[in-house]
Order: sequence, then C-alpha cells, then structure tokens
Amino acid sequence: MALPFFKKKNSQPPQAESRVLIPETLPQHVGFIMDGNGRWATKRGMPRRFGHREGAKNFRDLSLYCREIGIPNASFYVFSTENWKRPQDEIDAIMDLFWDYLCDADQYLDRCVRMIFIGDRSRLQDRLQKRMQELEESSRDFEKMNLILAINYGGRDEICHAAQQIAQKAQDGILRPDEITEQTIADHLYTAGLPDVDLLIRPSGELRLSNYLIWQCAYAEYYFTDVLWPDFNADKLNTALADFANRGRRFGGI
Ligand code: IPE
Ligand code: IPE
Ligand code: MG
Repeated sequence: MALPFFKKKNSQPPQAESRVLIPETLPQHVGFIMDGNGRWATKRGMPRRFGHREGAKNFRDLSLYCREIGIPNASFYVFSTENWKRPQDEIDAIMDLFWDYLCDADQYLDRCVRMIFIGDRSRLQDRLQKRMQELEESSRDFEKMNLILAINYGGRDEICHAAQQIAQKAQDGILRPDEITEQTIADHLYTAGLPDVDLLIRPSGELRLSNYLIWQCAYAEYYFTDVLWPDFNADKLNTALADFANRGRRFGGI
C-alpha cells in the first residue's frame, strides 16, 4: 500500500503550505514536459516568445524547488527534435533563452547540482555546445540532484543512436548479438546510469509523450493537468507528488 504522502501540521486542514513532504514517497526521477508557453502568451495577447520567457523563469524556480525538496533526478524537456519545424524566429528566441539560462547556471553549481544534457548536440550553436560541456564537467561530482535537460532531444532519435553504437560494437567483435539485453540498450541511451522516470508530468492539457523519454517512461506514472507550464508552480507540483504517492505501482506483479 502506498504511504500517505503528506502529514498535517497540528491537525490543520491539508493546505498545500501546511503539508510536509515525506521523503520515502518522493519519486526518484520526475520528468517534466514543459508545454503550454505559446498558449499562455496568446491568451494574454502577447507574442509566443513572452510565453517562453515566462516558461524559462518557471523552469528555474521549479528546478531549484525540486532540489530543495530532495528529488534526486529531475528532467526537463527544453526542445524536441520535432521543434525545428517551428518558425525560425521562435527557434531563435528559445535558443537565446537557453543561452541566457546557461550563462546564469552557476547557481546550480553553488547548490551542488549535477547538470546533464541529453539529446543530439551536434545541431546546436557552438557557444551552446561549449557551455554545456563546461557545466557538465564542472558539476560532474555533485550529488545533491541530477538536473537533466533535454535539448534537441527525441526518444526515437536516442534509440536509433543507441542502436548504431551497439551495431558498431557487434561489428567490431566487442559484443555478440545474443548478448544484447535491455540493460545493454539502456546503457547506450543518453540517460545511461540514470534511473527510469517514476513520475511524468505534462501540463497544458495535451495527453501525449511527444517523443520524450519513451524508453525510460515504460513504467512511469503519468500526471496530466490543464494548467499551462508558466503557471505550473511549486504548489501544483506538490499536488502532483501527493497524487503520485497514492498510486499503486505493480510493475506487472500483483
Ligand atoms: C512548450 O510550449 C515549449 C517548447 C516546445 C519549446 P509550446 O511552445 O509548445 O506552447 P504551446 O503548446 O504552443 O502552447
Ligand atoms: C513537447 O511539446 C516538446 C517540449 C515541451 C520541448 P510540443 O508542444 O512540441 O509537443 P506537441 O507538438 O504538442 O506534441
Ligand atoms: Mg506545445
């Protein structure tokens, strides 16, 4: 049976601010699909890029909140392999925000957060690639939380990439085809060494994965909400975590 997630302080009604997190009920890996920025801006009569700016602010706040409450792995979908289909000015706005974010990322290092970037970097601007590598290297030994950012990431692309590496090893005689297991595949994904997603959160009302961590979400619990990403705050995350804590996970057992 799932453990109760929140204790009430002094028997007060269960208001979000009076809830106390119980660490054992926290997911090991929370995945966030940060969706709804465009609609958030359009609803306010503003250009879509304002939504991305608000979404980026929320990402900063929520990633730090995850670290404060002790989530060991938090992953965020920043830009998908499919997002290149968008107008160039929108892509440029997203990449500029990502650059600003990377320039400002020392606050994570100060908090002992390890930064990991997943996705195909080869198509990104050189300055982004360089900074991503610097941040990964300087945070490599930090253990407070893994902050995983998916940029030019696609789950199918990731699996193709893994298949190519495994096939190369087979061709080179390093690995026999009949030795390939699920673990072999997991070890060749961008997320090698990281736990599978326990809780996948998608705001904005869409009920799909949009190619996010499709292998790693095989047994994830899903949490969908109509709230748009810029409005998905810490209180809303608490509600999602409480919901997760009450799910009965069986992994095929009874
Ligand atoms: C998510 O918000 C951000 C990215 C995909 C980069 P959207 O831009 O998809 O916002 P909506 O879905 O159009 O509202
Ligand atoms: C998923 O959102 C990608 C990111 C949040 C980075 P999209 O807005 O691109 O997904 P679809 O197009 O609605 O499936
Ligand atoms: Mg969207």
